[in-house]
Amino acid sequence: MSVIKNYVAQHEQRMLDELFDLLRYPSVSADPKYKADVLKTAEFVATKLIEAGAENVEVCQTAGYPIVYGEKIIDATKPTVLVYGHYDVQPPDPLELWETPPFEPTIRDGKIFARGACDDKGQFYMHVKAFELMMQTDSLPCNIKFMIEGEEEVGSDNLGDFVKQNKNKLKADVVLISDTAMISMEHPSLETGLRGLSYLEVEVTGPNRDLHSGVYGGAVANPATILAKMIASLHDDNNRIAIPGFYDDVINLSDAERDALNSAPYDDAEYKADLGLNELWGENGYSTFERTGTRPTLEVNGFWGGYIGEGAKTVLPSKASAKISMRLVPNQGSAKITKLFTDHFLSISPPSVKVKVTPHHGGEPVVTPTDSVAYKAAQQAIAESFGKEPIPTRGGGSIPIVALFEAELGIKTVLMGFGLDSDNLHSPNEKYDIANYFKGIETIPLFYKYFDELSK
Ligand code: BES
Ligand code: MN
Ligand code: MN
Repeated sequence: MSVIKNYVAQHEQRMLDELFDLLRYPSVSADPKYKADVLKTAEFVATKLIEAGAENVEVCQTAGYPIVYGEKIIDATKPTVLVYGHYDVQPPDPLELWETPPFEPTIRDGKIFARGACDDKGQFYMHVKAFELMMQTDSLPCNIKFMIEGEEEVGSDNLGDFVKQNKNKLKADVVLISDTAMISMEHPSLETGLRGLSYLEVEVTGPNRDLHSGVYGGAVANPATILAKMIASLHDDNNRIAIPGFYDDVINLSDAERDALNSAPYDDAEYKADLGLNELWGENGYSTFERTGTRPTLEVNGFWGGYIGEGAKTVLPSKASAKISMRLVPNQGSAKITKLFTDHFLSISPPSVKVKVTPHHGGEPVVTPTDSVAYKAAQQAIAESFGKEPIPTRGGGSIPIVALFEAELGIKTVLMGFGLDSDNLHSPNEKYDIANYFKGIETIPLFYKYFDELSK
């Protein structure tokens, strides 16, 4: 451990400066206006992998943004770890809510504020620096492969093909990902599952043009009102999703599994205070942890129609739309849920409007094993660096690649995240604690050490 701590202490400022350089690239994959920046970010990541000691580093072209690959094979008979991360970030909007600009990383109160600070630049870069540390201190005990993609935040559309076409290159014994959260620095945890996703857009069309709301209002159905009603009907009085068949494939947890998850340290009062809420909301009969980690949900991600500019414009809009995502749990399937939603949504559409449903992307839910050598290695690494055994939890977010790695390559994943739920992922003022960044850099080499030892 002292070798690790010494190395980090000696290179602390540079390791932080490099992360800042990475955070300055506005690598927003969702918005084409950032295309040149996203491409430059991939080049930057490749350069840093080479500097850290990786070989065969490649910026692999896809039909979308490139995937950065690099490896260090020390001995073909040793186990291999495939590190996955993403260099793309979410759009920074709404910009006016950022205290400091999203792509000018700033330290306040021991935290790095920037878009991507936690999701996922700060987290994947810990792996690059931990790799450098192992190379420089001659302590890399197994083979390592890096695969850092640039389309995670938009559904990883081209990753499936890449994985299918590069099965040999990506061959590994475990996938290691830091793109999730832990409970806190005092209560380290390991996520043992992720929810799947079904993401789509709906559009309700009424009259063939925007109308004067006084001249026509009252005689013509307003698409915004109709859409609001249709969306409201998607949850019942128990806050369950009212789409026929939606829960059919859900595997319910045993009482023992529920008790185990609910024993994690957590406080509803703190949770509410952090979010400025008087009351929480969710499916009746489940705790907050269960609602976000083990139960499927349906959320409106965006909702628009009519005039939303400055001042007033009395208009009855021709169209109203919404973006809707559903989080899925084992053993729900994203394609099936998308179809159930579509059929149901069209079936509740009144004759006064036309409704269109357009599927976007999806991903499958996963549960990761807790009895594997890799999981045990992660447990031991965290126990050593935090002085506390990690608590197994279930994450509410989605990383579609995890199910894909399992299906295509037969490789299981360890989700060793060092972020916090309160890091404002996808929100203004995203942050990552400097302490978590360095804790990650110190913990990762221990994972390699124990993974190698336990694999023998
Ligand atoms: N890193 C997140 C997922 C995540 C966050 C998992 C926190 C667990 C805890 C990832 O970048 C993400 O945001 N994924 C998207 C899905 C994607 C298909 C757009 C998500 O969860 O919305
Ligand atoms: Mn992420
Ligand atoms: Mn994300």
